[in-house]
Amino acid sequence: MDLEKYLAGKTEAVNRGLSALLVKEGDYPQSLHRAMHYSLFAGGKRLRPTLVLASAESVGADPDSALNIACAFECIHTYSLIHDDLPAIDNDDLRRGRPTCHKVFGEAGAILAGDALLTAAFEIAAGTPIKDKGAVIRAIAELAKAAGSTGMIGGQAVDIESEGKEVPFPVLEYIHIHKTGELILAAVRCGAIIGGAADEELAGLTRYGQAAGLAFQIADDILDVEGSSLEMGKATGGDEKKGKATYPSVIGMEESKKRAAELVGMALEALSGFDGKADPLRAIARYIVSRRK
Ligand code: IPE
Ligand code: IPE
Ligand code: MG
Ligand code: MG
Ligand code: MG
Repeated sequence: MDLEKYLAGKTEAVNRGLSALLVKEGDYPQSLHRAMHYSLFAGGKRLRPTLVLASAESVGADPDSALNIACAFECIHTYSLIHDDLPAIDNDDLRRGRPTCHKVFGEAGAILAGDALLTAAFEIAAGTPIKDKGAVIRAIAELAKAAGSTGMIGGQAVDIESEGKEVPFPVLEYIHIHKTGELILAAVRCGAIIGGAADEELAGLTRYGQAAGLAFQIADDILDVEGSSLEMGKATGGDEKKGKATYPSVIGMEESKKRAAELVGMALEALSGFDGKADPLRAIARYIVSRRK
């Protein structure tokens, strides 16, 4: 399959969805809405919403039925980037190829734009136009849990507490699974839930999402060492300067690459019972570690 074409198509659908579902840039208060749009429409890879749609497709559903949930994931992801870049967190100046939100709109503006994107996600998700409202509620509950203190924010908290310290491997794994893995896992699961997945399908997709989610953050750490800032649209080399707990710093570069490759194998294995409708998910698993941005 042509992954590049697939990703471009999904990116377009997600961008159209976000434009239609999110508050307009020119609505009052304009400074706030401009900051939200500035970070959201800056050319991210749209990986999490694409996983929502691909997962719905893998269980035979119309991906349009999951577009609201897909857009909700992108809103939460973008909010997490805005706050991750703040001076009090990672203090970064470049994101998605442009100055970070707080560089343009100030710290208060960036904090509030993040807050507003987080809450907009739940409004958008609640508008999911399917009959099975129980499935919508289950998906929203999973999204909330994955983004919260026992998910992404828990990972962010331990990431910050671990700066400049030598962390044991289980803590490193906790950080990566939580700050990044959980939202990716939830994207895969929520697409399937909205798509009406059977229990055994959801179980396979859960194993896929766990492996792909952790692999994604290991690849992010590797790219911070080996990637180009120009291609990635964010600074590289910052993890070492900040004393971040990363896979390369804790287990070495070679082992990190080996672990990422093993996880891709596990993600593919988890889809062994799926037919060709899961080919996009298979291609995305490979892309997660072969990407350059
Ligand atoms: C960056 O995520 C933050 C991490 C969780 C590693 P992405 O690499 O998906 O960033 P965008 O959305 O493409 O900008
Ligand atoms: C980001 O991890 C995780 C979240 C935003 C939740 P990183 O701090 O490694 O992400 P980048 O490298 O800044 O994109
Ligand atoms: Mg960070
Ligand atoms: Mg960061
Ligand atoms: Mg990083």
